[in-house]
Amino acid sequence: MVLVRIPATSANLGPGFDCLGIALDLYNYISISDADEPLQITLGGKYRDGIPQDETNLVYRAALQVWRKTGYKPKGISLHLVNDIPPARGLGSSSAAIVGGMYAANLQAGSPLTREEILALAAELEGHPDNVAPALYGGATLAIRQSDGQYLCRSLGNAADLKLVAAVPDMLLSTELSRGLLPSQVPLTDAVWNLSRTGLLVTSLLTKDYSLLKDAMEDRLHEPYRAKQIPGMQSALAAARGAGALGAVLSGAGPTLIAFTTGSASASQVGSAMQSVFLAHGTKAEIHYLNPDSQGAVEIGGNYGSIEAV
Ligand code: HSE
Repeated sequence: MVLVRIPATSANLGPGFDCLGIALDLYNYISISDADEPLQITLGGKYRDGIPQDETNLVYRAALQVWRKTGYKPKGISLHLVNDIPPARGLGSSSAAIVGGMYAANLQAGSPLTREEILALAAELEGHPDNVAPALYGGATLAIRQSDGQYLCRSLGNAADLKLVAAVPDMLLSTELSRGLLPSQVPLTDAVWNLSRTGLLVTSLLTKDYSLLKDAMEDRLHEPYRAKQIPGMQSALAAARGAGALGAVLSGAGPTLIAFTTGSASASQVGSAMQSVFLAHGTKAEIHYLNPDSQGAVEIGGNYGSIEAV
């Protein structure tokens, strides 16, 4: 039996659309073992409802890709999935399923694939590399699809000094719908706006100069278009900054907002500020006080019982 832990992730970080992301200490768990029956899937965790338990399951589809590529063919498998990452909220739940399924299947097959090869498979299945890269490697990452279709990923460090406050509104927003809100073309001035901020953000993370985050997290490529689908979004981001956040952005495709601070006291004020604004717009929001995860996908000891107890 193989048991793995996979972190939630926040992609884009403001301007780094489809290329920047960071891993968070909020996790899903996957255990995989050989079985006589073709496929058995059992579920646990806070967000188990609605997860398919047949061949359409995303963890299973991801595992199949590894077996196809490596030629490994188990007679049957048993999967136990513990989901504590909220789905369809912009916290990388689908990337966690894909990376976790591939990572666990690769371990079960005797690790024929490198992490780089898993990244390529996972990014292809997800469609973009910004969530799968930190889910696999941990920390903050920059990942790009090269002109020959390969993927290149570099760590931007673990951002260990940062505290992250995620406001998860009680509404679902599929990535597909959220991407459908974006224009196919943008003004050159907005493109320049984002590329300059993305450079600044990479500098901020690499040098740990978090005073740059205020300017570095400004986006014009996706947040303005998505705001109309998330009541209170712009006011909640402004409230987070007003309450002391160094930067506050839409997490991935939303609807979660994520703010960056360096102290627990200010984190608590930032969380309350975002929650109040969402409430004023008629939406309850759950606040998660998080830290960056530095490990990414990892095999852990234990069994079903130990993951239910985590
Ligand atoms: N970069 C992606 C987006 C992340 O913003 O649509 C969500 O998968």
